[in-house]
Amino acid sequence: MFPHARVVVRRGPESGLPIIVAVHSTARGPAIGGCRMASYPDWRDGLTDALRLSAAMTDKCALAGLPHGGGKTVIVAPPGFEDRAAALHDAGATIEELGGAYATGPDVGTGPDDMVLIGERTSHVFCRPVEAGGSGDSSPATAVGTVAALRALCDFRFGTSDLSRRSFAVLGLGRVGAHVARLLAEAGARVLTSDLDETKHLPGLARTTPQMCLEADVDVLVPAAMGGLLNPATVPALRCRAIAGPANNQLDHVSTAGLLHDRGILWAPDAVVSAGGIIHATAIELRGTAPADAMAEVQAIGDTLTALLRTAASTGITPAEAADRATGHGGADGEGGVRSRALAPSRPSTAG
Ligand code: PHE
Repeated sequence: MFPHARVVVRRGPESGLPIIVAVHSTARGPAIGGCRMASYPDWRDGLTDALRLSAAMTDKCALAGLPHGGGKTVIVAPPGFEDRAAALHDAGATIEELGGAYATGPDVGTGPDDMVLIGERTSHVFCRPVEAGGSGDSSPATAVGTVAALRALCDFRFGTSDLSRRSFAVLGLGRVGAHVARLLAEAGARVLTSDLDETKHLPGLARTTPQMCLEADVDVLVPAAMGGLLNPATVPALRCRAIAGPANNQLDHVSTAGLLHDRGILWAPDAVVSAGGIIHATAIELRGTAPADAMAEVQAIGDTLTALLRTAASTGITPAEAADRATGHGGADGEGGVRSRALAPSRPSTAG
């Protein structure tokens, strides 16, 4: 069965760029998921990314208990493309044609100001700046949710949630990754950072190459950039004891969860860890929750992760399998909804 409810691929009439909107599922409610603007070797790679990322959003919403399905928008923009407004207008018009089956928000390569431009063509958009009537940047909430997950992970794996006793390697210093690194440092943790972009670094925090960061001898590795980071080529070289981060689609394939398990590395499913942004945006914009209460809902990601890790340990399955069962498509073979992602080649899918 074709896994996606609807996929639109079109040439944007204003920009001329490929505009891709993938609606994976509306079974639990309208689909949500960010709008990514990035360059790809070929537009088909952008389509592959949209298909994988929208499926991951379905899992993310289900695990967070939100009445939504997953979707994603990808604007395939060549490096240096200048007419941002035209591209975002094209995305907004495409989303508007779906009549509310899908609403977008910020993602890699877009931010709250871009949501204003999308909002000039559709009302189905989250995270416009607060002054413009939205809930603002979602990345602080995604970072707060990630740190709540890291505390829960540390409590489960090391017997204490005290981050000042732990060391972390944060791979990726985009809007979310940089915020996570800062929060960890503020909590007194030892933090090593890295980004492919050598100009990015945080004052006062140690920095190394992506390769050294990936293979660092730390308590916890925090993937905050590339999708598919964990695969049969990288897992044997890891020296961390646990992994949790906001990057989407960290495993190249569900079977890699088994490789991590065999090496004694505890992996927290990214669909649980990275849900802070959507929890925060939907609470404020759809349910009128006060921002402070929305942040409290984001903190509950820690409890969700603890419950999942306990279930996995007590039933002798990996956290990935436990997450898969919790989303409702998990047969004992760990297939079902995950299959669509597992078949796709690994593309860069970054944290949003
Ligand atoms: N990139 C995030 C996500 O896809 C942000 C987002 C927030 C998207 C709110 C939609 C709504 O999870």
